[in-house]
Amino acid sequence: MVILSEWLAAQLDKESAEPAYRQLLQLMQQAILTGRLAPGTKLPSSRTLAGDLGVARNTVLHVYDQLSAEGYVISTTGSGTYVADTRPDSAAVSTATPATAPAADDDDDASSASPRGDMSMRGQRLIDEAGVSARQWGAFMPGVPDVAEFPARTWSRLQARLWKSANHGLLTYAPGGGYRPLRRALSDYLRVARSVRCTPDQIIITTGIHQSIDLAVRLLADHGDTAWVEEPCYWGARSVLQSSGLKLAPIPVDDEGLNPREQDLRDPPRIALVTPSHQYPLGMVMSLARRRTLLEYARQHKVWIIEDDYDSEFRYGSRPLASLQGLDESDRVIYVGSLGKLLFPGLRIGYMVVPERLAATFRTGVAELYREGQLMQQAVLAEFIMDGYLTTHVRRMRTLYGERRQLLIDAVTRHFGDSLPVMGDEAGLHFVLGLPDHADDRAIAAAAYDAGVIVRPLAAYYSVRQDRKGLLTGYACVPHEEIAPAFATLAQVIEEHAFANPKKLRRAG
Ligand SMILES: Cc1ncc(COP(=O)(O)O)c(C=O)c1O
Repeated sequence: MVILSEWLAAQLDKESAEPAYRQLLQLMQQAILTGRLAPGTKLPSSRTLAGDLGVARNTVLHVYDQLSAEGYVISTTGSGTYVADTRPDSAAVSTATPATAPAADDDDDASSASPRGDMSMRGQRLIDEAGVSARQWGAFMPGVPDVAEFPARTWSRLQARLWKSANHGLLTYAPGGGYRPLRRALSDYLRVARSVRCTPDQIIITTGIHQSIDLAVRLLADHGDTAWVEEPCYWGARSVLQSSGLKLAPIPVDDEGLNPREQDLRDPPRIALVTPSHQYPLGMVMSLARRRTLLEYARQHKVWIIEDDYDSEFRYGSRPLASLQGLDESDRVIYVGSLGKLLFPGLRIGYMVVPERLAATFRTGVAELYREGQLMQQAVLAEFIMDGYLTTHVRRMRTLYGERRQLLIDAVTRHFGDSLPVMGDEAGLHFVLGLPDHADDRAIAAAAYDAGVIVRPLAAYYSVRQDRKGLLTGYACVPHEEIAPAFATLAQVIEEHAFANPKKLRRAG
């Protein structure tokens, strides 16, 4: 006992700002966990310990009470306080065989690289193939709208009004597929703007397209099922499908969109994920004939089509095209969209339109898996749409982005003449700047990043075989006056990497 008091006295710092009670508690816990105080040891009486340490008896009494409440000691009236036996149950611990049984001479590195290291196989693959960029803003970040143009004052006015009315119902969980008025507003909007056939009941609010795809896959497909993805396709969707345990079958695209080969058709997938209104990333539109063929194939083979309609509102030469869902007579299409590109990506509100017979299933599924909320944000958005601000904002942004797109195309032509093709520029927030076949688009994108310009290499979007080289170049979030200077930087990087004689090329342009 003397030893315990001596040890505690040596450790206790009476000058410290930390109260004696906290210090003493932590020291005794440490002594018990490390075995300095063995199980069964009787602790000195509170009076004796307080005397030895020169602290108030109440301090020691509080420490003993806390140790007892947390299971470190057992107090028995009349006979004193003893250290409890809290050692791990060695039988329980040793029953299971270790997941990794590294050989005696394995070093740390070898065991962490084993397939049963910290990561699961699918987790490791997800991280190895991750496409997400550390920077999400600036020239020429593809797929990002100009958030500086968002009507923040209107939003904050609507939000303030809703908080004032203090509707407690908006502060709870949000079961039932999301805020009803928002689902009504979205179904009206989608019917008119995207020719989607739906009622508010068929709409499920999610945190965006990633979550919508994840939910659809979990409810409609099993581990090991096949999913068709376009080749090339959005890396984020590919990651979601793959990490859910689906086998991906990349299907070629041509000028008319998805173009499955004989061998693809012989093996119907469970899921087909497509971007028919604006192929991502190349930008073509799926022809009506291909749409009808895909719908008929899905009907015959019970394939679920996920239609990712991520940015179709922004078409520059013509009116937005109708959705694939609007043509579907057999209820095989799950339509997914997002407010991220229309308003701002950080909003994290998206929606899915599911066939009527699946609506209740999806409502339960989304609540069960993600415990959704954000009703207040959803209510603000509903008012924003119902008061006409969404339509006005989209119209204004379409004009703005159209101008930026033209400025960027002009800059490309000034530098490169027609030697670098611009692909998929009729719609969306980016186009693909084609590069010569011998160019290494990954190396060019990396060098551009170092020079302060963000572009994405087309290579990152292919799953198997890259049949063209290019850079995804976004213009929506770049102020007009920054486009030409930023492109001059990018052009220099391209010239250095892709052309042997840059000066000659510049003259030709
Ligand atoms: C084709 C495509 N689908 C979906 C998304 C992501 O949508 P969300 O932010 O709603 O998850 C993106 C983002 O760039 C995209 O390009």
